[in-house]
Amino acid sequence: MEKNALIDHFYQIYRKKDKLRVFFSPGRINLIGEHTDYNGGFVFPGAITFGTYGVVRERSDRNVCLYSTNFPEGGIIQFSLDSLEYEDEHGWANYPKGMINYIQDAYGTIPNGFDMLVCGNIPNGAGLSSSASLELLMGVVMDELFQLNMERIEMVKLGQKTENQFIGVNSGIMDQFAVGMGKRDCGILLDCDTLQYEYAPLNLTDHKILIMNTNKRRELADSKYNERRAECEEALLRLKGKLDIQALGDLTEKQFDDHLELIADPTLKKRAKHAVYENARTIKALHSLRKGELGEFGRLMNESHISLRDDYEVTGVELDTLVGAAWDHAGTLGARMTGAGFGGCAIALVENDHVESFKNEVGRQYKSKIGYEATFYTASIGDGAKEL
Ligand code: GLA
Repeated sequence: MEKNALIDHFYQIYRKKDKLRVFFSPGRINLIGEHTDYNGGFVFPGAITFGTYGVVRERSDRNVCLYSTNFPEGGIIQFSLDSLEYEDEHGWANYPKGMINYIQDAYGTIPNGFDMLVCGNIPNGAGLSSSASLELLMGVVMDELFQLNMERIEMVKLGQKTENQFIGVNSGIMDQFAVGMGKRDCGILLDCDTLQYEYAPLNLTDHKILIMNTNKRRELADSKYNERRAECEEALLRLKGKLDIQALGDLTEKQFDDHLELIADPTLKKRAKHAVYENARTIKALHSLRKGELGEFGRLMNESHISLRDDYEVTGVELDTLVGAAWDHAGTLGARMTGAGFGGCAIALVENDHVESFKNEVGRQYKSKIGYEATFYTASIGDGAKEL
C-alpha cells in the first residue's frame, strides 16, 4: 500500500498532516506444524506481505483515538490510557487496547496518547492472523513512539497475552511469533517449548506458494479451538500417569504408539496422535527443504492435511474440497489447510507453469461443489512488524 495514500487517508479522518509516522505489521501463513504450538511442539510459519498498516500522530493529552478503514462504520474509537478495559462495543479496537494495557503494565505509564489510522489488506476472517498482525502493529508503534526498547520476543509474548487474557482465545504463540519475527523469503522453525528458532531460506526454485481462501466464515472457530486444546490437555494428563513428560511435543511417534492405550478414549487418542505425528512431520519437512527435496516437502504437507482432517477434525467440506482439487491438479507438489482451520485458508506448493491453470481448475471445482468462489493469492514471504 502506498505511504502517501495512507497519509491522505489519515488527513481525511484527523485533519492533520504533520509529524505522522507509518508502520506495517504482516499476516502469516504456516507451512507445516499445525495445532502443535500449544502442545510444546514445532511450527514452521512465515510472515506474508499482506498485513496491517498504521499511521500515527502523538497527542498532547492521554487519549487514544483509533480508526480502521476496514470498519468505517465504527467511526473513531476513543479511550483514555487510564481506562483500558475490554469493551464489547469497541470491537476490533480491543486488540490494540489490550496490547497498550499490557505494555503499560510491563514498561510503565506512557506519557501521552495518539491518533491512529489502521488499514489492513489481509482478507477478512481468512485465518491469516489479522489479529496478531494488529497486536504486533500496536507493539511496534508503542515501542518506536515511546522508545521502550522492547525485546521483540517480549512484544510477541504480550501479543499472545492480549489474545489469551484480553480477548479470551486460548491460542499458542505461533501467530504473534511469525508476525513479530518474520524474515523475507524465510520460514521460521520455532520450538514452541523453548522458543528457540532458526530461519530456513525458502528456496522454491520454479515453484510458488499459493494461498487459497475458502471464503468460508470461521464460525465457532474460537470455541472449537479451545475445545481441541482442552482435549490435548486431557490426553496429556492421561499419558502423564505413566510417562515423565511436560507436553505432547516431548514424545516421539514410537513412544506415543507404545503408550497409546493410556489415553483410552478414542477421540482423545486421535487428537493426541495428530499433535505427536505433526510435530515429527514438521522436523522432517525442514530437513527436506534444506536438502532441496521439494517433492518430499509437498508429500508431508499432504499428510499434514489428512491428519488435520481425519484425526484432529478441524478442516470441513470447504477446506477439503479446495485441498482435494489442488492435490488432483498437475504441477501441485503438496497442499494443506493453514492456521486454525474450520474455514479460512489453505496453501499449495505449485510449479510456476501450472499456476494459472491451477487457479482456473481448482477454482472451478470449488465453485461447482460449494456454490461460491474461492480466492487465490501468490504468497510473498516478508519481514516482521516494523516502521516504514
Ligand atoms: C491459530 C492459533 C495458533 C495455532 C494455530 C494452529 O492460528 O492462533 O496459535 O495454534 O491456530 O496451528
